[in-house]
Amino acid sequence: MVEIIIANTKNHYSQIAKLADVIWREHYIPIVGKQQIDYMLSKYQSAIAIEEQVANGFEYFLMTFDKTPVGYISVKKEVESLFLSKIYILSVYRGKKIGKAAMAFIEEKAEDYELKSIRLTVNINNTNSIKAYEKLGFANIGPLVTDIGNGFVMDDYQMVKTI
Ligand SMILES: CC(C)(COP(=O)(O)OP(=O)(O)OC[C@H]1O[C@@H](n2cnc3c(N)ncnc32)[C@H](O)[C@@H]1OP(=O)(O)O)[C@@H](O)C(=O)NCCC(=O)NCCS
Repeated sequence: MVEIIIANTKNHYSQIAKLADVIWREHYIPIVGKQQIDYMLSKYQSAIAIEEQVANGFEYFLMTFDKTPVGYISVKKEVESLFLSKIYILSVYRGKKIGKAAMAFIEEKAEDYELKSIRLTVNINNTNSIKAYEKLGFANIGPLVTDIGNGFVMDDYQMVKTI
């Protein structure tokens, strides 16, 4: 059974940092390379970085399957949209509708905040996730390049789901 719990303790942030380390290395090194992933993990997904993001309005949630941590979500309320900053599931647990359950949870959150849409960014070469987002009702509204420092950029598409 899938459970989605709010992450609000140092122990939760450590568990998420561990999941990020596994998932990002496995998934993104072939897409953007090891140097950029080392940089992004330490800048955005250390336990301390996550705690700072939570202090600045990001909400993190840990996903478990039969009590085992299998993934995590992060969202941020914006003026018009709920920004889906992160949704990551361990590779062996993908394709089992855990992402779909997560998206239903995120939609409920957007509705609670009386927001009309969910937006996200996804690497232009993250083909499988783009396909999953399309199946989950998101539309690609075009490219978005973001400078993240140290000579790295995030080369993304922006996708939106109206709810
Ligand atoms: C993207 C991700 C969160 C989706 O979660 P998931 O649990 O694998 O997806 P689900 O099993 O819930 O599938 C959701 C829908 O997408 C479809 N889907 C999932 N992967 C797909 C793929 N590779 N190709 C086509 N459709 C796909 C499913 O068929 C399902 O649609 P349906 O209900 O109409 O049948 C997950 O695959 C993941 O963590 N990927 C790697 C990390 C990543 O890139 N995260 C996003 C960063 S922007």
